[in-house]
Amino acid sequence: MTSKVPLPKPFTVPLPIPPVLKPARTDGTTDFYEIVQKPARAEIIPGSPTQVWGYNGLFPGPTIVSRSGRRTQVRHRNELPVPVAVHLHGGKTPAESDGYPTDLILPGGGGASHQHHGATGRVSKGAKDYVYPLDQPAATLWYHDHRMDFTGPQVWRGLAGFHLVHDDEADALPLPQGDHDVPLMICDRAFDEDGSFLYPSVSPDLQGEPGVTEEYMEGVLGDVILVNGAPWPVMEVDNTRYRFRLLNASNARRYQLALDPPAAEFVQVGSDVGLLGAPVRHDELPIAPAERFEVVIDFSAYPVGTQVTLKNTLGDGGTADVMRFRVARKAKDDSRVPSRLVEFERLSRSSATRTRQVNFTQGANDGRVMWTINGKVFDPDRADVESKLGTTEIWRVVTDVHHPLHIHMAHFQVLSRGSEGRVRPSDAGWKDTMDIPDSELVEVLVRFTGYRGRYVFHCHNLEHEDMMMMGNLDVM
Ligand code: C2O
Ligand code: CU
Repeated sequence: MTSKVPLPKPFTVPLPIPPVLKPARTDGTTDFYEIVQKPARAEIIPGSPTQVWGYNGLFPGPTIVSRSGRRTQVRHRNELPVPVAVHLHGGKTPAESDGYPTDLILPGGGGASHQHHGATGRVSKGAKDYVYPLDQPAATLWYHDHRMDFTGPQVWRGLAGFHLVHDDEADALPLPQGDHDVPLMICDRAFDEDGSFLYPSVSPDLQGEPGVTEEYMEGVLGDVILVNGAPWPVMEVDNTRYRFRLLNASNARRYQLALDPPAAEFVQVGSDVGLLGAPVRHDELPIAPAERFEVVIDFSAYPVGTQVTLKNTLGDGGTADVMRFRVARKAKDDSRVPSRLVEFERLSRSSATRTRQVNFTQGANDGRVMWTINGKVFDPDRADVESKLGTTEIWRVVTDVHHPLHIHMAHFQVLSRGSEGRVRPSDAGWKDTMDIPDSELVEVLVRFTGYRGRYVFHCHNLEHEDMMMMGNLDVM
């Protein structure tokens, strides 16, 4: 989509950092948080305020910081005009708190939360408590809306935020920390003349009808790149190492990140759901929707005064630029990237007890064009994949066009790509999302630890997800 509002000059708006949310209370086992989802005005394009739907009215939402193994409970109140569902992406979460697409919080200011089990889903009125045990290693997770058929438009309006998990093993590493540990949420948007978000108007009833544009079918792209909600922002940095927690929160856009000038590299220390065993160096970093990379950039590679642009080599025009770092001053640096990071267990092919074929393709449903998995569109009531808790499986995934595969609750490692089976350097570590290029066979090793219950797996191109490219995962 092409913006109609006059856009700011790139690298003029300072990079915002989402505020860290304070718990409403804590006890011996649990930190309790409260979030109100509501409309608010945000000045994203200077001089043309945008109405966002935000967690606490913010876009990005406030960052939640949890301790591994300590319970986090978040009470979400819905003061938006539409139902919502909240998913903690990358979390190992009991099914009732996972944000299953039909587990809705209906709008309703005030009133106490009460839940009933409808025909489809656990429906709450006004509010819901999500309980996160976070029995998992330190990682960069994020939370976002997951309402069935409407995830794309609701995330586009602003319903996304960071949820970081810390643990002792990660804390003991000498990586950059404090204000040198910076979350960067990258996403694209488009803006109407009055500054409001532009999104194709399409109702699910119209999906696959002539009313659906090619643009919607492919996934919605914007011409403005936002980082932490600001267009092409600029950040002043010391000439030291920084740790960046990169998240691609775009509905459909993939990026290939590069530094210009390229004196420094991306030293990857973490993947979607945890730190790596050893760092991996990249000149360029591909990042698909919903993926996270934790990287260290050492700005001592640049003389003070250098402007370093974070580029997107897949973009053109405005979408070729992401943000800029201005190396502003000399500073002392106590951080380093050790050659061993955390204990990492590499899964082997022989640990798998079964193999499944998963095909992501365009298909038809009732004569309408849809996106399907193994030829089927999503049906909350149908069993698709049944996996045993405690086991490991090989999923062989093939796609017609690029689709980012995401699995809830279970984490995986990339086993092989293409006919030669070689994985990419950026495939390292534990993942919950990965990009599957067209017609390349990708094998992943999925490990089912955590909880029993009904979860989903789906394409994380949000328009594809809304066009029903999703299946049930029953962990038994
Ligand atoms: Cu990030 Cu099922 O979602
Ligand atoms: Cu897709």
